[in-house]
Amino acid sequence: MLKAANLQIPMSKPIKTRRLVLREIQYDDAPEFARLAGDWDVARMTARIPYPYSEALAREWMDTLGPDEFVRTVLHQDTLIGAVGYVANDDGSAEIGYWIGKPWWGAGFATEAASALVRYCFTTGGFKRLTCCHFEDNDASKRVIQKLGFRQSEACSAWCDARQGEFPTLSYELNRPLSAVFWRRTA
Ligand SMILES: CC(C)(COP(=O)(O)OP(=O)(O)OC[C@H]1O[C@@H](n2cnc3c(N)ncnc32)[C@H](O)[C@@H]1OP(=O)(O)O)[C@@H](O)C(=O)NCCC(=O)NCCS
Repeated sequence: MLKAANLQIPMSKPIKTRRLVLREIQYDDAPEFARLAGDWDVARMTARIPYPYSEALAREWMDTLGPDEFVRTVLHQDTLIGAVGYVANDDGSAEIGYWIGKPWWGAGFATEAASALVRYCFTTGGFKRLTCCHFEDNDASKRVIQKLGFRQSEACSAWCDARQGEFPTLSYELNRPLSAVFWRRTA
């Protein structure tokens, strides 16, 4: 079963942006997750997506999601185009992540979806600090993080399931802005 934070009963309200809807993940998303996130150019830039990826593995992953993990499917005009989410850290901060299917790259969708996620984290989520991390060779993600206003914190390394190895990473952080107080009132 999908865990509480991700498949809530009743379903939590979708997050809406100008062009996107971020809704709870469903088992029915597994085939599209496998197809889009299973693309080598997507999987190799993430820590946890294996390669090759399958519908069965996508469902298995959904089953592992814990209450400290939050994942939303990104829809554009009712079509599944990617996913965003966070994992809550022990210190009260959260690490965000995102991927967008290759056919939709370069249209600003990651920035739009991740901006909505950041806003959600600072308002509904109540986090005071967010972190984010990308592999050093991921210039597109670096640009997205910069556009979101994150500041680089450290260089490190992380395991990549798809590439089956440890690779250099860059980490970033963003503190909750004072304006989040106003977001809270309008969220
Ligand atoms: C990273 C990713 C999410 C970006 O998705 P996207 O919807 O194309 O992102 P956006 O269109 O919002 O923004 C991409 C930005 O990166 C820039 N960019 C893209 N490729 C680039 C490259 N090779 N070098 C430098 N900048 C690049 C774009 O020009 C754009 O910046 P701009 O708005 O200033 O022109 C997508 O490529 C992806 O899913 N990659 C694989 C998974 C992944 O990397 N996830 C993040 C893990 S940390």
